[in-house]
Amino acid sequence: MQPLKTDRLTLRPFTLDDVTAAFGFFGDREVMRFSLNGPHASRKTTEDFITANINRQARLGFSIWAVIEAATGDIIGMCGLAEFGHGVPGIELAYRLRRDRWGRGYGTEAGQAAVAHAFGPRGLDRLIAAVERENTPSIHVLEKCGFGFVEERTIAGRDALVYETLSSTGPHRSTSTG
Ligand SMILES: CC(C)(COP(=O)(O)OP(=O)(O)OC[C@H]1O[C@@H](n2cnc3c(N)ncnc32)[C@H](O)[C@@H]1OP(=O)(O)O)[C@@H](O)C(=O)NCCC(=O)NCCS
Repeated sequence: MQPLKTDRLTLRPFTLDDVTAAFGFFGDREVMRFSLNGPHASRKTTEDFITANINRQARLGFSIWAVIEAATGDIIGMCGLAEFGHGVPGIELAYRLRRDRWGRGYGTEAGQAAVAHAFGPRGLDRLIAAVERENTPSIHVLEKCGFGFVEERTIAGRDALVYETLSSTGPHRSTSTG
């Protein structure tokens, strides 16, 4: 695929050359606080994640991509699309950024580019996301990407809020989380 460009970011498929930079944030406990599996224990875990996404890109035409900051060329996080799993059907929007790049609107900018790619070139009609109630920054990103709250659900033993967005109607449900 062609890289996705926004005003300040580029989203492109991961390569194995990205392992060291990506382990910088995948190994950060705070960045991975709301991850089901916690921080990556070693570079090998990050390498396996990247390999899985190289394969996903070849198989499905989308994956979780590297997020590059245009101003510096640095890999500052990940954002993209993947099968949700955990017995929940659907394609999820996922994102994580290096801690030193939070609070600049990058999460929203990357998320909106991924949603536009999903509903445009990829032809998907629905995306989902699961987020923990305490993860206010992520809930804000989802709302700014057009997602609405659907239901509470236990996923991998944790209480999660499920959000979705449809290509046909965009935001269509209450954003209240009850
Ligand atoms: C969730 C996460 C990606 C959010 O990233 P972010 O770039 O900080 O999020 P935003 O794009 O909303 O920016 C955050 C704030 O920056 C502010 N901001 C600062 N400069 C901005 C700019 N130029 N443009 C837009 N917003 C800007 C916004 O007001 C926004 O505040 P808001 O949430 O009250 O609306 C990040 O916190 C993260 O990586 N968290 C850990 C991983 C995680 O939890 N992932 C999700 C699992 S479900």
